[in-house]
Amino acid sequence: MWGRTVPILAKKTKAYGCSRAQNHDSTDNSIEPTHEVDLHIDSAALPLTHIILCRQNQPNSLQNTKQKTMATCQAWPEPVVRVQSLAESGLSSIPSRYIRPQSQRPSNTTSFVTPKPSQTDYDNAYVHDHDHLNIPVIDLEHLFSKDQVLREKVFQQVSVVCKEWGFFQVVNHGVSHELMKSARELWREFFNQPLEMKEEYANSPTTYEGYGSRLGVQKGATLDWSDYFFLHYMPPSLRNQAKWPAFPPSLRKVIAEYGEGVVKLGGRILKMMSTNLGLKEDYLLNAFGGEGEIGACLRVNFYPKCPQPDLTLGLSPHSDPGGMTILLPDDFVSGLQVRRGDEWITVKPHPNAFIVNIGDQIQVLSNAIYKSVEHRVIVNSNQDRVSLALFYNPRSDLLIEPAKELVTKERPALYSPMTYDEYRLYIRLNGPCGKAQVESLASQT
Ligand code: OGA
Ligand code: NI
Repeated sequence: MWGRTVPILAKKTKAYGCSRAQNHDSTDNSIEPTHEVDLHIDSAALPLTHIILCRQNQPNSLQNTKQKTMATCQAWPEPVVRVQSLAESGLSSIPSRYIRPQSQRPSNTTSFVTPKPSQTDYDNAYVHDHDHLNIPVIDLEHLFSKDQVLREKVFQQVSVVCKEWGFFQVVNHGVSHELMKSARELWREFFNQPLEMKEEYANSPTTYEGYGSRLGVQKGATLDWSDYFFLHYMPPSLRNQAKWPAFPPSLRKVIAEYGEGVVKLGGRILKMMSTNLGLKEDYLLNAFGGEGEIGACLRVNFYPKCPQPDLTLGLSPHSDPGGMTILLPDDFVSGLQVRRGDEWITVKPHPNAFIVNIGDQIQVLSNAIYKSVEHRVIVNSNQDRVSLALFYNPRSDLLIEPAKELVTKERPALYSPMTYDEYRLYIRLNGPCGKAQVESLASQT
């Protein structure tokens, strides 16, 4: 099986020609300490085929996970600079490492011009803001209603937005607003501590867990204007509270509660997606490993204010590599932009809503009936911004492939099977090239 996948990957990787110098690996959101691939930093030039071939003789059984050894990418290629410290040093121009080529700057796109919605957008997408095009907002209140008509209406709305947008907001989602607020504000407090306190949690590219300021290990890469904290929440075997911040004192407890609530919400959305795709209600959940075994990680992003926001990005364009992302945005500061055609739409967060988006693994499982959507983050000169991204992922050692029920003669399987472990390695080498990662997996059969 891998023998078949390798040439396809290798060929397509070249064809897309992702520039390594652009590699931020911003979406490599859950590298677990269980990889067996020998991925040295300076072997970033190592062909992907080498990595895949390393594993080709290994059965993809669940037990095999245990036998995996560590990835050996142990240090960052250059001294790490905390973006928040840079911002707080009061500099009036940003270092060249953060300056993007002209064509990738926010000011060079239509990003600040929010496009007017079309009639179809109004009709299909529940756009609530009549002056601006915003991503749709769906009210989940009736998800468990006894009234079948109301319940089906929610399913129908979710179906439309999954097919047409890949990005939506949800309200009445069942997670306490107080909990959302306290999670975000405690994380803000964490980032506002003195640097030495945060440095205790400094991360490395071996696992990415902890306090970080870059994604990807390419020497000389253009960097994003953000710091982050990354941790594992699920499966329980990867959850290690000792790696979570001990300050503010209630943060660990709040992370645990928040994770529980958001993972539960993720499970509900996944069930709706399965049903809407015509699959058994638990199909996607089972494909992800089942309730207790899915992967879930939290990345808390901190985007410091920036003296030259037109020259840089808070997070490079990418699609999320995992299953689905449930994002709690900053309630005061916008910054997330979603690609729609040739435009970048700035998301206007709805009060107390989560932003949900489809990741690459659901694109694969649904045989591209649902597609992950490219997004990025812009920064501004007035305010810092905090966001909490919970990545709801498949357990990393399971093969992910299009559901048999969605493969027909007319629509053959668009992707070869691949574990999420493998997928992340691919990203690790190629970086966030918009949607090139998932598109390069398309099988040519
Ligand atoms: C991410 C992401 C968006 C945001 O963490 O993958 O896309 O608004 N974050 O921070
Ligand atoms: Ni993302």
